[in-house]
Amino acid sequence: MVTKLFLRPNSLPLITFPPKLLFPKPKFLTISLFCFTTQTQTQTQIHYGPSLHKGTKPSQSQSQPQQQQQQQQEQDDVIIFDEKSFTRVFELAALRVPAKDCFALESRLRGHLLNWPRIRNIARVPGDEVDPDLLNLLGEEEEEENIVSLERRIHGKAEGDGDVLSPVLYRDKLAREFNARGFVKFRNLAKISRPKKKKKMEERSEGNKGIGRNEISLVEVVEEGEEDLKGLLGDEFKGKRKKWSGSTRLLLLDERYAARNVEELPEAIKVVLKEDMRESTKSTFELVRCKLTLFYDYWQMNEILEALLPKGIIVPSAFETVGHIAHLNLREEHLPYKNLIAKVVLDKNQPKMQTVVNKIDAIHNDYRTMQLEVLAGNHSLVTTVVENGMRFHVDLATVYWNSRLATERQRLLSGFTHSDVVCDVFSGVGPIAISAAKIVKRVYANDLNPYAVEYLERNCVFNKLEKKIKVFNMDGRRFIQAIFESDKAKSITQVVMNLPKDAAEYLDAFRGIFRDRPKNGDFTFPMIHVYGFSKAQDPEFDFHERIRIALSEMVVDVEVRRVRLVAPGKWMLCASFILPESVAFAGTRLDM
Ligand SMILES: C[S@@+](CC[C@H](N)C(=O)[O-])C[C@H]1O[C@@H](n2cnc3c(N)ncnc32)[C@H](O)[C@@H]1O
Repeated sequence: MVTKLFLRPNSLPLITFPPKLLFPKPKFLTISLFCFTTQTQTQTQIHYGPSLHKGTKPSQSQSQPQQQQQQQQEQDDVIIFDEKSFTRVFELAALRVPAKDCFALESRLRGHLLNWPRIRNIARVPGDEVDPDLLNLLGEEEEEENIVSLERRIHGKAEGDGDVLSPVLYRDKLAREFNARGFVKFRNLAKISRPKKKKKMEERSEGNKGIGRNEISLVEVVEEGEEDLKGLLGDEFKGKRKKWSGSTRLLLLDERYAARNVEELPEAIKVVLKEDMRESTKSTFELVRCKLTLFYDYWQMNEILEALLPKGIIVPSAFETVGHIAHLNLREEHLPYKNLIAKVVLDKNQPKMQTVVNKIDAIHNDYRTMQLEVLAGNHSLVTTVVENGMRFHVDLATVYWNSRLATERQRLLSGFTHSDVVCDVFSGVGPIAISAAKIVKRVYANDLNPYAVEYLERNCVFNKLEKKIKVFNMDGRRFIQAIFESDKAKSITQVVMNLPKDAAEYLDAFRGIFRDRPKNGDFTFPMIHVYGFSKAQDPEFDFHERIRIALSEMVVDVEVRRVRLVAPGKWMLCASFILPESVAFAGTRLDM
């Protein structure tokens, strides 16, 4: 008995033919247990999963997405490197199954299916979709009958009118009437065309993507002997089944089975094939060979950079983010490749990241703003950051922002209560002041940088907290003196001094702030949180000493915490203590 397993030229019946004949060795790279050959791998190294070192580069004839990618690149002004050189082709085997069965089979065969990151093991290939309406029309009858029936409908003829129709006429009509997607457009079948909504969505997403930009992979069935059909129906129909028996899907098999014939496949797959044969007279499953092409967009940032940068150079693997801006801190050795690095960072992190910048100098100025060079993307350094559920507008060209301090700010805020009144001496655009305003009774926020104050005011309004925050634009020392001279002084419970470079040196401003007030008055001695850096062996002791010197007083109860290591051997610290009475009343008439 001849098996009725439905097969393509490259697919394998289960029993009928000798295995070696059934699955001829492919012409391109064989992925087998012992052979993942490319430029650098040796035969003894067997790595599972995709890699730029595995797979083959595509032949000269480019596939469509690559051509599109090239067109896109040509539109760009500067071509920094050729994205096409990252295209890799992998040979795989797949089970072609009816679409309706694919999910059940996927869970049955899970351990034997391809398990590569970001690659679905169920694939569609062009032409595997048969419109259900058209399928109904064709029915389960023999193909020839269906075609005659279809042909009659095309020509508007009645069934059984005895008229013999020319096959040439039919093929010609078919070729003219199929649209680019393979849908029949002719009169009687007009209703079969896709619903408008879906069409629109497709057009929109294509427009957004740019030409082939988001294409990460492509699965193609390797087929032979269908040239005549292809010539007639175009490339869209490459891989279309000879028997039109409904929509199909490819279940991509694990890479280990790429070059195996049916006999060599694991029992679980063979059982599935056998069951299918038993169940229906017309077998619906088939084993096919396919090519999986992974494009530039598939590979991760570090894989691309590793391939592009000279050997021995540390691959930059991280960057800070401020809203849509990716902020690099490139080393000297990276500078000749800065544009290339930036392009990869941008490509791999779009659309979240729109701009890539590099810090070109250490921060020297009073306003703690960074000198940044835009390396890729749009040139706007104005962005919006979300932190603690608040939104902050920031212009990195004119104000300070450090996303790395988010956790520290969160910790600080967690100590505030609704009865607190906060005084933020170096507030910047307001990440502490504005977030605090959500919790506490009142906030007084100050910064010397007029741009920071402008953004601070904007952010107060933006977060609808302008009624709880009073903004000042003055030097920190002057601000401390002014606010504690005013009648606001007695309500202030928390003071934040986040200028680690030299905030401790501003502590002397607290000496004698209550000197003109009666000692037995109604006072609150605020809790002061002051930030600083230390390179000392014992950073806590060192910072405590500096606080003591600035206050000219022994402050006993200081809690010093390490916030983060900002450079090798350099700690950022936070010291919290209650302003000592002796400091607040220093220099009063009674003391003198
Ligand atoms: C390290 S930033 C901290 C900003 C904010 N607290 C944050 O966490 O983003 C220090 C801020 O102090 C401001 N600043 C520098 N010198 C100052 C001074 N003498 N008086 C007041 N503000 C000053 C800078 O403009 C900057 O915005």
